Amino acid sequence: MKQYLKIDEWSIIEESFDPQTQEISESVFSIGNGYMGGRANFEEQYSGRSLQGSYMAGVYYPDKTRVGWWKNGYPEYFAKVLNSTNWIGINIDIDGTPLDLAKCTVSEFRRVLNMKEGTLSRSFTAALEDGKEVKVESIRMVSMVRQEIGAIRYSILPLNFNGEITVTPYLDGDIKNKDSNYDEKFWNEVEKKGEPDSGYLTLKTKKLDFHVTSAMAFDILVNGEQLNAEAEVIEQEKYVASTVHLSVKPGDQIVIYKYAANVTSRNHGLGQLVDAASAALNSAREAGFVALLSEQAAAWRDKWKESDIYIEGDVSAQQAIRFNIFQLNQTYNGEDDRLNIGPKGFTGEKYGGSTYWDTEAYCVPFYLSTADSTIARNLLIYRYKHLEKAKENARKLGFRKGALYPMVTMNGEECHNEWEITFEEIHRNGAIAHAIYNYVNYTGDQAYLGQYGLEVLVEISRFWEERVHYVPHKEKYVMLGVTGPNEYENNVNNNWYTNRMASWTMEYTLEALSYLQEQEPARYAELVDKLELLEEETAKWSEIIAKMYYPLDDERGIFLQQDGFLDKEIILVKDMLPEHLPLNQKWSWDRILRSCFIKQADVLQGLYFLGDRYDLETKRRNFDFYEPITVHESSLSPCIHAILACELGYMEKAYEMYLRTSRLDLDNYNNDTEDGCHSTSMAGTWMSVVHGFGGLRVEDGRLRLAPSNPGHWTSYAFKIMFRGSRLKVSVTDQQVTVTNETEIPAALTLYDQEYEIEGLGTITADGVSITA
Ligand code: BGC
Repeated sequence: MKQYLKIDEWSIIEESFDPQTQEISESVFSIGNGYMGGRANFEEQYSGRSLQGSYMAGVYYPDKTRVGWWKNGYPEYFAKVLNSTNWIGINIDIDGTPLDLAKCTVSEFRRVLNMKEGTLSRSFTAALEDGKEVKVESIRMVSMVRQEIGAIRYSILPLNFNGEITVTPYLDGDIKNKDSNYDEKFWNEVEKKGEPDSGYLTLKTKKLDFHVTSAMAFDILVNGEQLNAEAEVIEQEKYVASTVHLSVKPGDQIVIYKYAANVTSRNHGLGQLVDAASAALNSAREAGFVALLSEQAAAWRDKWKESDIYIEGDVSAQQAIRFNIFQLNQTYNGEDDRLNIGPKGFTGEKYGGSTYWDTEAYCVPFYLSTADSTIARNLLIYRYKHLEKAKENARKLGFRKGALYPMVTMNGEECHNEWEITFEEIHRNGAIAHAIYNYVNYTGDQAYLGQYGLEVLVEISRFWEERVHYVPHKEKYVMLGVTGPNEYENNVNNNWYTNRMASWTMEYTLEALSYLQEQEPARYAELVDKLELLEEETAKWSEIIAKMYYPLDDERGIFLQQDGFLDKEIILVKDMLPEHLPLNQKWSWDRILRSCFIKQADVLQGLYFLGDRYDLETKRRNFDFYEPITVHESSLSPCIHAILACELGYMEKAYEMYLRTSRLDLDNYNNDTEDGCHSTSMAGTWMSVVHGFGGLRVEDGRLRLAPSNPGHWTSYAFKIMFRGSRLKVSVTDQQVTVTNETEIPAALTLYDQEYEIEGLGTITADGVSITA
């Protein structure tokens, strides 16, 4: 772990150039807008270690599966979000020598991610081998207002020479995915055109026929004057560029404004791509860079108004939480219900940019509280639209009925191929059902059940019904051969979490059915008909609920992660020599599987999801047993522990877990940030503040808050949207203030006291013991 980024409330700042950390910085400084995004690569050529990454949401490639030993049921492909045309490139040559930071002496380097206004900037002085020096400043954005537009201002100042600077803005589609299974390139060229000050390039994927047109236009100013110099147009395979030669003397200022539009066949007809790109591009160029920047700042101002968390007295924690919120808002905006959130967002290729249970378990709560409810609803509808595919998936694995959602997907089809995950990590079905409950409970939108939710719930319950079986000698239903959220154990029997979520899903499905029968009888009848739902099925679910087997240890009063868990040698993580950690980099897989060490919340994930069903003492006993043997080697782990620790009043532990989740990428905790940021776990960071320290729960449709102060902050404040109102919750050591920032009245329980807050009203609770 190397901490090299400067602490600042609103920015991420790097103050010197180090090729060793370049790939980490490329991830951390990534920018995007929910529609497209990319890593913080340099505009000019760079021959050092780098992952050039530019990604268009929803544009993927079904890369042929690669496995050692094929197993029936494996998917044919692993979907990969496609690394697409590099639209940021501007090559600079100085008297014929490329400006390349890997080959110059670099000084006064500074890179800044301005999270308040959504820009990435960079400045440096570079001395070439022959002693020529230039000063460069660049600022880049991916527009939050015009989703297809990115823009750059790049300036270069010769410091000590008379000579020629050559500027070459380009579009390069000759791109390879780092994670390509067979080292293949995935794009073919369709058409291109270069003009002296512009150009476009259309590519299509070798499979599935996604088309992407990237168009660029640029203006060059020398000492403030628009340049009308002749440009040399270069067209090569999957490449378009224009080169401009400039005679310069010390102090001349060359400024390049490069605008780019990236449009895809997901949103435009094939024949319209070039026109659509040109229209978006021309309108951005006419508006001009300054106007684009101010639009951007205004859009981010609005985002922050809804989702900021303010921490006083700890700048490092403040920076970290804003970084997480910033990344989430630039990864997904909920406008397109065909899109979802890849574990790395637009910051890298690992996990293929596909959808995991991370969305339902971690991201849905963030979007529920920080944005209009249609956004979380769109995430749910995404799964509704994949229901038929989830049914096919279950059939493919030999189930007669029901739906098994994929562990990893782009279009509803499973595309993961490790048997212990693909076939066994079926708990994902539980998280998808729970997200429906979460959404309905939070928003009060009961109509969602009749419209979409119930169909998903019924098919998931059917799957569970078939996946369990009755064991006469136990007089219980059991579930064998699963992998729980703790991926450091596979093929276990009766994973408590999976059994519990299965039975909970059936319970909730029955509840939703009764609700509909009473409140919307016509829709109920329609759905029973459509689903061909039989009374014997619902009766069976009730029986399974009553007779589900849960492994327990009476002596310790804990739920057992799975059958036989206590046969393991129990060693606490704190008693391990540090050189053994992280286990996944230091130990053989065999040794990990046999050990007691837990990768991420498993039993505790269940106690978090179903928190209203378990008392504090049950949670305490389980937390006290499981947390000390948990290595948190999934980024999704610390946040769940932070939330439970808060509930239990373990504030130091909660704070330790909070720091671990919130600065995971900024401080490269897991030594893997160069692959991309842990975008989905960033929602967990938000949860650890709002659900953890803020104590937010919604019970019986009522908002409940029970804030505590972790003890390291003078105060903190967060915003939540709840049923039309937006509330700002501010917490000091002695006082909690809730301000209603809208005209819509809100009801809530603060600790044990009930309040009504009128529109624009404020309530204050003081004299309460806030610091545990
Ligand atoms: C975790 C999974 C998670 C995946 C993607 C894995 O390391 O164990 O729970 O879904 O990463 O974030």
